[in-house]
Amino acid sequence: MRTPFLAGNWKMNLDRRAALDLVAALRERFADRDDVDAAVCPPFVYLAEVVRALDGSPIRVGAQNCCDEESGAFTGEVSAAMLKDIGCDLVILGHSERRHVYGETDELVNRKVHRALATGLDVILCVGETLEEREAGRTEAVVRAQLQGGLEGVDGAAMERVTIAYEPVWAIGTGKVATPEQAGEVHAYLRGLLTGRFSESIAAGVRIQYGGSVKPDNVRELMAVADVDGALVGGAALTPDNFLPILEFDR
Ligand code: PGA
Repeated sequence: MRTPFLAGNWKMNLDRRAALDLVAALRERFADRDDVDAAVCPPFVYLAEVVRALDGSPIRVGAQNCCDEESGAFTGEVSAAMLKDIGCDLVILGHSERRHVYGETDELVNRKVHRALATGLDVILCVGETLEEREAGRTEAVVRAQLQGGLEGVDGAAMERVTIAYEPVWAIGTGKVATPEQAGEVHAYLRGLLTGRFSESIAAGVRIQYGGSVKPDNVRELMAVADVDGALVGGAALTPDNFLPILEFDR
């Protein structure tokens, strides 16, 4: 069975003191349990300190993005190798804010996926439709293009290191959460695509997180959905009082 994987995406929030206070509280209060995997994804500048603060803890540390190129003249970018070098072992790629605010295409996301995997970073690949796309009945077409585009050229063996996050854009930061039925439909569809692209056994091993207004009071019903294997949490990952009950959701 797939171990639920719950990750906090801090986005561009918190300052250094608040970041260290948050991880100190998580470290102290998150009971090491083998039935759930946990991660935090701070902004780049706090990563190294967060890695140190969580040294020896089961909570993993990820970045929110990386460059598709290996190294060189790419002002303002951060490479996968640099992330690996400071002890980060995970990266979120293709988040809707990267796609919609910064114009990242499936081709670029795919190059980042290859770079991250080749460097030894695990990947959370995000997919999700906008409200307009959902209302136009295009949800499946959109997530299919993002999943297939993002995973172009990735082989089945590497899928052990890839998590998919289904994040309907209309549910991100809006307080509007997908219903368990809506999430379940898309998660099952994504699992089917993975089966077609790889194999049933590989698809059965890939964790598919739900993201979009996950909170302590809705995490349990979302996690109860058959193909929902965890959550990518934004706003509610910024305080221990919200994130801990999510990590420790009652199964
Ligand atoms: P939210 O963000 O939980 O604040 O909706 C989720 C995400 O964007 O990963």
